[in-house]
Amino acid sequence: MATMREDVDRIVISERTLAERVADMAREIAGGYPDTGEGITIVTILAGSLVFLSDLIRRLPLRMRIGLITVSSYAGKTTLSSGATFESAILPDLCNRHVLIVDDILETGGTLRLVQSQVGAAGPRSVKTAVLLRKTSRAPKDLKVDYVGFDIDDLFVVGYGLDYDGLYRNLPYIAVLKTELYQAGRHV
Ligand code: IMP
Ligand code: MG
Repeated sequence: MATMREDVDRIVISERTLAERVADMAREIAGGYPDTGEGITIVTILAGSLVFLSDLIRRLPLRMRIGLITVSSYAGKTTLSSGATFESAILPDLCNRHVLIVDDILETGGTLRLVQSQVGAAGPRSVKTAVLLRKTSRAPKDLKVDYVGFDIDDLFVVGYGLDYDGLYRNLPYIAVLKTELYQAGRHV
């Protein structure tokens, strides 16, 4: 049987390293909300954040509500961001709430800028942002991110929620695919 693991060139962050860092991030995040008895409202960006979110929230002892936003930035078989556009949202009331935005990866920052401004317009009490991965050389310096899991090189990565052309989200680690699989745009 041909499996998707044959498409992986190399693992960039292992399952174990992900689990340890996500547990650390949960401790950092919980420590940042010492007096919020009413809890927080997470706004997460689908679909890439699915796996990170599900691991993170089970490590967070805070009361929380969860809202979902979809934003599209990569279309089909390209690894070049085409700019973020808002698609849809299922959100609880954010007015006067402590909002934590959770995303998978920060690259150009287009996605987070869009979501931060949308959340900000809803009148929250506070807004923080957590990302699992940040492409250090690409992320704009003026974009405020409060919690970062890993700083990585400018590679197109898949797994742990991240896709290429809709596939590979269910790989349990972060990996780079074999070069010949990337059909257009920049890759490794
Ligand atoms: P930005 O808007 O350029 O910061 O891009 C962020 C979004 O693009 C992320 O939420 C991902 O959905 C997607 N993205 C950026 N880099 C990668 C990658 O290396 N692999 C898979 N998706 C990526
Ligand atoms: Mg995304």
